[in-house]
Amino acid sequence: MNTTLEEGKQLAGKIVDFVKNNPLEKLNGSPEVMMFAPYTHIATVAEHTEHVKSVSCGAQNCHTEEKGAYTGEISVSMIKSTGAKNVLIGHSERRQYFAETNETLAKKVKMALGAALTPVYCCGEVLDERNADNHFNVVKEQIEKGLFWLEEKEFAKVVIAYEPVWAIGTGVTASPDQAQEMHAYIRKVIAEKYNQQVADNTTILYGGSCNAKNAKELFANPDVDGGLIGGASLKPDDFTAIIQSY
Ligand code: PGA
Repeated sequence: MNTTLEEGKQLAGKIVDFVKNNPLEKLNGSPEVMMFAPYTHIATVAEHTEHVKSVSCGAQNCHTEEKGAYTGEISVSMIKSTGAKNVLIGHSERRQYFAETNETLAKKVKMALGAALTPVYCCGEVLDERNADNHFNVVKEQIEKGLFWLEEKEFAKVVIAYEPVWAIGTGVTASPDQAQEMHAYIRKVIAEKYNQQVADNTTILYGGSCNAKNAKELFANPDVDGGLIGGASLKPDDFTAIIQSY
């Protein structure tokens, strides 16, 4: 819940200009940038990103139903109609403040895929769960309940973001080893459920105080495919430095 429309427009414009001047396909692994805008901004940001290679717009949430009397809610087809291509599902703040459960999130994933939006499904443990050495189980359950009911073909369209909740917005980042350990675990769980090829092809992002200084080290891990950036994405210079960390 950051930026007015005008501020958001300027921020998105700066990122898009950067990408136009620095084609991402020249970077290692041809990264892509998705900008997840607030609902009030998505149509505008989607317009900015239209026809720009490797950049797209997404929403930060969606509703579980297609349409109807759900005043104040936004459906996937409404999101799609703005030109957005992606949707964040299950960000920890949605789980924490809006009581979204793995079961609710599974419905949102289904909706997103049905509307041909790429779901970026967030998972991650809170500090108590890590301290109790329960973080692997928590993340496994979030992925199993949220995603593993999908057919392989559908699962292949999903992006996963591992965000340890204790690292989000706190300035405390998971160490590169902690990130790698969990990402490798997630990939192993996917390989067990589907197969190794699906696991290898799944994009797994790290989120939680990822910034211009630590991004390179985090992204250098073999199982960390990119980042989900919060605070640092609001500062165009920091965000473009993160893009260049690939
Ligand atoms: P942060 O946020 O980068 O500010 O920790 C991450 C997020 O909100 O997903």
